[in-house]
Order: sequence, then structure tokens, then C-alpha cells
Amino acid sequence: MRRFCLSIACVLVACVALAAGTENDARAEAQEEALFGGMPADEGRLEVFGFCGACHSIDLVLQQGLTRAVWEEVLVEMVRDQEMAPLRDDDRRKVLDYLEKYYGPDRRARNSGNNPA
Ligand code: HEC
Repeated sequence: MRRFCLSIACVLVACVALAAGTENDARAEAQEEALFGGMPADEGRLEVFGFCGACHSIDLVLQQGLTRAVWEEVLVEMVRDQEMAPLRDDDRRKVLDYLEKYYGPDRRARNSGNNPA
């Protein structure tokens, strides 16, 4: 009986620890997302945040919902008209992949920019 109680206690402790861990992870993720203006964690987030938030608010970018073709035009326009340094090919691909995935016309990102999604 004693041993049985002990194992129950162990299982309970493990469950509580596990639940707390998951909760902390979710909280940390939400906090991190808030730091990035609501941008979901994924490959390319750092690049978009860094390259596209350098001259203007990142919200100016995140409030858009554009197709990849239009995002490509925006990048061309930033370089041609706004003195942005052209991105290296791999950075460009990451930026476009990320913007297409989360800031396309369907705007998959949860709290993107100032606009309610
Ligand atoms: C070298 C500075 C610079 C960088 C870097 C830059 N922009 Fe811009 N961007 C501007 C300026 C200047 C404007 C127009 C003035 C304003 O509204 O603040 C602008 C405006 C915009 C607009 C508003 C609509 C438009 O076409 O005018 C969008 C969208 C945009 N930028 C997206 C981006 C994206 C995406 C990136 C990253 C790939 C980026 N910008 C990086 C300078 C920059």
C-alpha cells in the first residue's frame, strides 16, 4: 500500500511538473511573439523583423496582406525608391517565404500589426 501511494505521488508530481512546463513554454512563446510585434515563430521571422523594421515600424509591414508577387514588388520598391540595401538571395527567399506564409491575403498570423486579423 505504501509503495502504491508513493508511485501515485510520483505520477502526480510528474503531471504537475509537466503541466507547469507546458504552461511556461506557452507563456514564453507568447512573450517572445509580443516582442516581435505578434509575428509567429518560424524561419524568416528574424530576417523580416530586422530588415523590414529598420527604417519604419514593423507594423507598416505586418498590417499588409499581400500575395508573394506583390511582396516581391514591395521589396523591389524598397530598394529602388527607399534606399534599402538589396538582400542576399537566401535572406530574400526567407523574407518572402515568411511574408507569403503569414502575411498573405489570408493573413495566418494571429495578431499581426495594428489591424485585427
Ligand atoms: C532603407 C529603409 C527601408 C527599409 C530597409 C525597408 N523600408 Fe519599407 N519603406 C521605407 C520608406 C521610406 C517607406 C515610405 C515612407 C513611410 O511610409 O514610412 C516605406 C514604406 C513601406 C511600405 C508601405 C507601402 C509602400 O509601398 O510605400 C511597405 C509595405 C514596406 N515599406 C515594406 C517593407 C518591407 C517588407 C521591408 C523589408 C523587406 C522594408 N519595407 C524595408 C523604407 C524602408
